[in-house]
Amino acid sequence: MKSFIAALALVAPAYAGLRFACSQLTIQRLDPIVNPGQNPSRHVHQIVGGNAFNVTMTGDIGAEATCTTCEMSEDLSNYWTPVLYFKHPTNGSYHRVPIIKNTSLANGTKGGMTIYYTPHDLCRDGLEQQPITAFPKGFRMTVGSPTTSTEEQAKAHAGLRFQCLVNTLNRGPETADFPTEPCPGGIFASHHFPACWDGKNVDSPDHQSHMYNTIEEDGFENAPPCPASHPVRVPQLTLETVWDTTKFNDMWPKGAPNPFMWSFNGTKGYGTHADYLFGWKDDSLQRAMNQSECFYDGCGILEKQTMDVANQCTVPEMVGEETDGWLTELPGQGADMPMK
Ligand SMILES: *[C@@H]1O[C@H](CO)[C@@H](O)[C@H](O)[C@H]1NC(C)=O
Ligand SMILES: *[C@@H]1O[C@H](CO)[C@@H](O)[C@H](O)[C@H]1NC(C)=O
Ligand SMILES: *[C@@H]1O[C@H](CO)[C@@H](O)[C@H](O)[C@H]1NC(C)=O
Ligand SMILES: *[C@@H]1O[C@H](CO)[C@@H](O)[C@H](O)[C@H]1NC(C)=O
Ligand SMILES: *[C@@H]1O[C@H](CO)[C@@H](O)[C@H](O)[C@H]1NC(C)=O
Ligand SMILES: *[C@@H]1O[C@H](CO)[C@@H](O)[C@H](O)[C@H]1NC(C)=O
Repeated sequence: MKSFIAALALVAPAYAGLRFACSQLTIQRLDPIVNPGQNPSRHVHQIVGGNAFNVTMTGDIGAEATCTTCEMSEDLSNYWTPVLYFKHPTNGSYHRVPIIKNTSLANGTKGGMTIYYTPHDLCRDGLEQQPITAFPKGFRMTVGSPTTSTEEQAKAHAGLRFQCLVNTLNRGPETADFPTEPCPGGIFASHHFPACWDGKNVDSPDHQSHMYNTIEEDGFENAPPCPASHPVRVPQLTLETVWDTTKFNDMWPKGAPNPFMWSFNGTKGYGTHADYLFGWKDDSLQRAMNQSECFYDGCGILEKQTMDVANQCTVPEMVGEETDGWLTELPGQGADMPMK
């Protein structure tokens, strides 16, 4: 760690990193990246960030939104993941698993996610490599896919992991699938996005091929530089969510298979995925990435808000369906719903 800090001080370009809380904005069956214009979309998501979130989203979100549920008040981006459900092992009813904040984050945070923008997460190569270029206006991407259903397929996604929480602070080993036994502190899910961009396209037909992931293994391995096809190193974006599974643990009979599943009827954890729609105001993200003192939450040049203010940012309910309480079917996944 000591040599790491020393190296950080020696390099000329700045290598900033941000870590902050975003409260829950809404939970709805919408996906303006993968299913734009479709209300409802295929499966339920939990969404954090700016209030420009809508059925269809185009253009500069940072200029459209007027508030955000994130602690960094210039971050009007949206971030979302599928929602976790508990399937009752004997009666087959579903219940949405609540999301709780990371206890070390800002007081007042309501559920939501921890957001990271770092130069060297999952790798240490950022120190001697290219400077970090912020995402351009209109940029969007996804990571992972609901169609990933085997361990073999999941190997292509080193940055999508689960950890069984021993308590509210300590995480168990990383796994690509859901934990196989009840977790006393809940299930911790992390989504690392790829950090090499083609430098041209703000999106691509599959929402992924304009990006390239240099990370092939778990852990803090040295990652190769960005390839010529995707030469621009953007911030390593990471989302963390804490699913509070604790109230369901005593309904999980000993030895029975994992009863938690994704909102797309995903009984394996492998289909985990996340979406990102860039919306930082003006050049605020680039300014932060250029300042070494912007390391985690200590950074004078970024505007912050208290979570009491952040929690007042809302969007309307646009789908009009029940996603909470005990449900006999997962929203959109009933037998009469064709898989779109
Ligand atoms: C969502 O989009 C619709 C149609 O363009 C628009 O009428 C509505 O105001 C938008 N909602 C928000 C919260 O921006
Ligand atoms: C299944 O069990 C839960 C928990 O006891 C209960 O609240 C729910 O109503 C049950 N569902 C059905 C269909 O009986
Ligand atoms: C939350 O509030 C408590 C009590 O005022 C304080 O001790 C703690 O430092 C606060 N935590 C954060 C992350 O600000
Ligand atoms: C909470 O966040 C801190 C700081 O990023 C991290 O070290 C810790 O592992 C997280 N814990 C949980 C349970 O999310
Ligand atoms: C960030 O740093 C780069 C390289 O030094 C510079 O070209 C750019 O103008 C800076 N951008 C901002 C917004 O400070
Ligand atoms: C949900 O998944 C289960 C197990 O993989 C499968 O048996 C069932 O048919 C699926 N339901 C729907 C509506 O696709």
